[in-house]
Amino acid sequence: TITPVILSGGSGTRLWPLSRQLRPKQFLPLVDELTLFQNTVQRLQGIPNLEDVLVVCNEEHRFMVAEQLRELQLAHQGILLEPVGRDTAPALALAALHLTQQGKSDALMLVLPADHVITDNDAFHQAIQQAAQAAQDGYLTTFGIVPQRAETGYGYIRQGESLTDLDASRVAAFVEKPDAGTAQTYVDSGNYLWNSGMFLFRVDRLLAALEAYQPEVLQACQAALADPSHDLDFIRLNTAAFTAAPAISIDYAVMEKTQDAVVIPLDAGWNDVGAWSAVWEVGQQDAQQNVLHGDVLTHQAKGNLVHAEHRLVTLVGVDDLVVVETKDAVMVAHRDKVQHVKHVVGQLKDQQ
Ligand code: GDD
Ligand code: MG
Repeated sequence: TITPVILSGGSGTRLWPLSRQLRPKQFLPLVDELTLFQNTVQRLQGIPNLEDVLVVCNEEHRFMVAEQLRELQLAHQGILLEPVGRDTAPALALAALHLTQQGKSDALMLVLPADHVITDNDAFHQAIQQAAQAAQDGYLTTFGIVPQRAETGYGYIRQGESLTDLDASRVAAFVEKPDAGTAQTYVDSGNYLWNSGMFLFRVDRLLAALEAYQPEVLQACQAALADPSHDLDFIRLNTAAFTAAPAISIDYAVMEKTQDAVVIPLDAGWNDVGAWSAVWEVGQQDAQQNVLHGDVLTHQAKGNLVHAEHRLVTLVGVDDLVVVETKDAVMVAHRDKVQHVKHVVGQLKDQQ
């Protein structure tokens, strides 16, 4: 069987002013009426041998997670609460250790960040079938996206030798977030895929890899889960033990080091909604390529994204802007510059 493990720890500062510490982007309905988190869970419906989801999130967000699952009327296997964020390696160690405690050490875990958009569910489900076979054989499996541009915000995977019986190849190299020049040579070579941040592991294989490459992460998480306390659906850890875990991503901790990684190509309209420009890309564009949410009027304006929450917003004679209006903040940016929104958030934090 496969247990989906939903990673819901990010803060999404580049989607300010909608995304806030108390309500990060995965809990917002950014592309349709469901939130990104809800879509992540919902799009799994129909995959064979799938167990209920297991969520790993920050303690702060526990009621939002529980409520958003309740709205979908889908059962789940529990919500693991991190007292602090320690990046994805400890989060996944916790999930694997918890599943082991439940007698599922030879089961598969499908790791899904809670903030991705996928438009082609059939292609996604097929790739999961392929990955499940590879993971069953003991490989540490990752999903690779055909790169569309020299993006520097992603990890890149160099494809090695093909596996004979699956649409998959060995990972020849894993490079996390290269600089722009390097990224361009990767894209030009045609031999690289983007690391999607989605993985499929056998629980015992992930734990063995952590033991080999990151014993400190494993030990801290073992101590954190030695005597978990359950309240409602929440699984609470030993705070001091978990806080002692080194903060490291699964990419650096395991995927860069292991010889057992394979990559499954995925062409399913994947987007990690990292910035406002991505919300425009995946949104419903009108004849003028505007994506308009809420009470918005435009005249001679094209290629804009407008999100209006409380007031009427009008655009006249401007192109390629992002305008986000909320109760206490308005953000206007050029669509090509939206990556810089995080600097404004940085300034705000400094003022506090
Ligand atoms: N539970 C939990 N706890 N989840 C976390 C934590 C944590 O401490 N840290 C991160 N996550 C979740 C985030 O919510 C997000 O959904 C996912 O793990 C990835 O974390 P990011 O912080 O968004 O990573 P990134 O965007 O810098 O890079 C990763 O994703 C890219 C694709 O979106 C890497 O895997 C890249 O290689 C990859 O290309
Ligand atoms: Mg990300």
